[in-house]
Amino acid sequence: MQAIIYRDYGTADVLQLSEVARPTPVDNEVLIKVCVSALNAADWRLMHGKPLLMRLMTGLFKPKKGTPGTDVAGIVEAVGRNVSQFKVGDAIFGDLAGCGAGGLGQYVCAPEHVLVLKPENVDFEQAAAAPMAAVTALQGLRQGQIAAGQNILIYGASGGIGTFAVQLAKHFGATVTAVASASKHDLLRELGADSVLDYAKQDFASNGQRYDLILGVNGYRSIFDYKRSLAAKGRYVMIGGEMRQIFQALIVGKLLSLGSQQQLSNLFAKPNQTDLAKVGSLLANGDIKAVIDRRYPLAEAPAAMRYLEAGHAKGKILINLQASTEQSLEQTV
Ligand SMILES: NC(=O)c1ccc[n+]([C@@H]2O[C@H](COP(=O)([O-])OP(=O)(O)OC[C@H]3O[C@@H](n4cnc5c(N)ncnc54)[C@H](OP(=O)(O)O)[C@@H]3O)[C@@H](O)[C@H]2O)c1
Repeated sequence: MQAIIYRDYGTADVLQLSEVARPTPVDNEVLIKVCVSALNAADWRLMHGKPLLMRLMTGLFKPKKGTPGTDVAGIVEAVGRNVSQFKVGDAIFGDLAGCGAGGLGQYVCAPEHVLVLKPENVDFEQAAAAPMAAVTALQGLRQGQIAAGQNILIYGASGGIGTFAVQLAKHFGATVTAVASASKHDLLRELGADSVLDYAKQDFASNGQRYDLILGVNGYRSIFDYKRSLAAKGRYVMIGGEMRQIFQALIVGKLLSLGSQQQLSNLFAKPNQTDLAKVGSLLANGDIKAVIDRRYPLAEAPAAMRYLEAGHAKGKILINLQASTEQSLEQTV
């Protein structure tokens, strides 16, 4: 089968389209025939092996696995003998980041607990785009104790997580201000944002507004700017962006929260079937939808990774594996 792999850390130039052996599922695993895969920031961070500390787990000098592709939607091709939730032919989707990824391959094995059934009326693209981004957005809003009537700010609202966060916040009844560059404003309004700010021209931290919840999804703002913009009992949840943002929230955020009614914290998203199934039903009911920016064939995964890493995707970047599976089946006939 064909798969994208990398044998060294580095830029997207290390990604190689290779012929590799089709994996065999162990007892608790499902073999998935991948239809569509979606990229996440985790894919390019792992490919670079940065931050370096991460290499303690992923391989000090060379990647132990080198199999990118975190989110997948596909068909169950085979099941291990202890698998009880799925059978051959089921359409499923899931986030494989915690089990070695590998979604950029025509087939991949994953433990059943990272997967859920794909609702029938949700297509493979929508399902593949959602697992990590939508579950992270959901958990971020939950950590920030989202409630109807709240005034919330989403900074870095136009990428994979942000586009889901805007829709989920509206679904929960909040009033949403979305911060993104001007070219993304129409999209964000379509997704339900009540107001939009252009981070290049408008400074949310000096316009006198106070928010019950701020999600820091991408870009960089000082934690003091976020704190200044919180309501008296407001919460700031740091999801992503520049590395210094993580350390600020971890250390300064904890200190600023001590003895204060305001809470400033990091999110460490934990994929789980319950939240993934919730995302599946929100997609099925039309409450949220994945925004698809670009689609690439498997062979063009390096270009897809470069585009995502440049940091200005408008929603999600997909890799279509159906075309390559059909092509290699033709070649074997
Ligand atoms: N905490 C967790 O558990 C967790 C889980 C998953 C991911 N993450 C992290 O979350 C972050 C976002 O992930 P994602 O998938 O949404 O990324 P993404 O899709 O690559 O985000 C792209 C978006 O970021 C916006 N952006 C870039 N620079 C910006 C800036 N300076 N100010 C405001 N917005 C800016 C872009 O908008 P413009 O084009 O308008 O600039 C673009 O639409 C990443 O850092 C990722 O590592 C965290």
